[in-house]
Amino acid sequence: MQEIKTLNKIDPVVNGVLKGYAVSDDAKEPVGILVRSAKLHDMEFPESLLAIARAGAGVNNIPLDRCAAEGICVFNTPGANANAVKELVFAAIMMVNRNLVEAIDWCKGLAGDPDAAAKVEKGKNQFVGPELAGKTMGVIGLGDIGVRVANEAYALGMNVIGFDPFISVDHAWKLSRAVEHADSLDYLIRNSDFITIHVPLNDKTRGYFGEKELAACKPTAVLVNFSRDPIVDIPAVLKALDEGRLARYIVDFPTPGVIGHEHVVAIPHLGASTPEAEENCARMAATELRDYIENGNITHSVNYPDCAMPRSGAMRVAMIHKNVPNIVSGVTTLISSRGANITNMTNRSRGEYACTLLDLDEVLNGTLYQELSSIEGVIRVRLLK
Ligand code: MLT
Repeated sequence: MQEIKTLNKIDPVVNGVLKGYAVSDDAKEPVGILVRSAKLHDMEFPESLLAIARAGAGVNNIPLDRCAAEGICVFNTPGANANAVKELVFAAIMMVNRNLVEAIDWCKGLAGDPDAAAKVEKGKNQFVGPELAGKTMGVIGLGDIGVRVANEAYALGMNVIGFDPFISVDHAWKLSRAVEHADSLDYLIRNSDFITIHVPLNDKTRGYFGEKELAACKPTAVLVNFSRDPIVDIPAVLKALDEGRLARYIVDFPTPGVIGHEHVVAIPHLGASTPEAEENCARMAATELRDYIENGNITHSVNYPDCAMPRSGAMRVAMIHKNVPNIVSGVTTLISSRGANITNMTNRSRGEYACTLLDLDEVLNGTLYQELSSIEGVIRVRLLK
């Protein structure tokens, strides 16, 4: 039985999706890995490993380039926890805006006090906080989460400004027409009471919100980070908070620098921690893994192109290779020299990598695997029956 290794606690829904596989945390020769936040940068991957599926959106815990070079496909589960994150963004903003934590703590101090009701009415004034309606929410990054946050902010009566120079057509369709499109980050920052960041962490977004951006913030602004902590320049944020140039920083990724700061609300990475999101992510990750292992289909890869087609014919050749000339022609020439007919094929590329799927009308055995593997630029070949 083929093995799937789990590196974090993953929702048991995966056992149903991966029926027929041995799913465990001590798999020795896994064909797939299911992971949440475990860091894989220092992990050596076994030869057996075909794919890693991240049950979540962020993939900064996975060495994407090394995986791509080693023929390991990495998936994530975009959108599967977007609703959970969106809900927590608003829960956190409302909690901060209405001083709820301080107010609830104060109430606890009245436990057992017979005059509690009177004291509440007298003391509640200290916790007055403004409404969201009529304020401006700036949403940076309009992917699955950002679009939901923007639309929800509008539904709550807020003015909404969105900024995303790379918005996909699909996300643009989902975005409320009421959202104002900022053509610069500076415009969004200068005009927002709440600035919420929803971009992935990568080399381009590390330190994305720094001194320059903080200088444009209203002193009353609240900065919200449910993406990843290094997207924000933390020392710069702390300085801005200390100097009264930024009112609050809400973050779902507490680091030593921010924990305990009077103007920081640090949440222990709970954005995606709902039973619904955990199940959605686990199901999607396991489904992606299974389809890749059995059919070579790639959906929601973060290091290879997406490449999928329905099965036809008697055998499928699934290949990962460099995105260079003559590989596909070499493969088809080799297959036709064996007298087999290609019933269907697809080829997709992304950057320096490409994926090719070919369905053949007969099963070819013998040296085909070795011959395909020895074509220059080919990284991985699988013959799937
Ligand atoms: C994500 O990137 O989607 C979340 O960090 C998922 C998680 O909490 O595991």
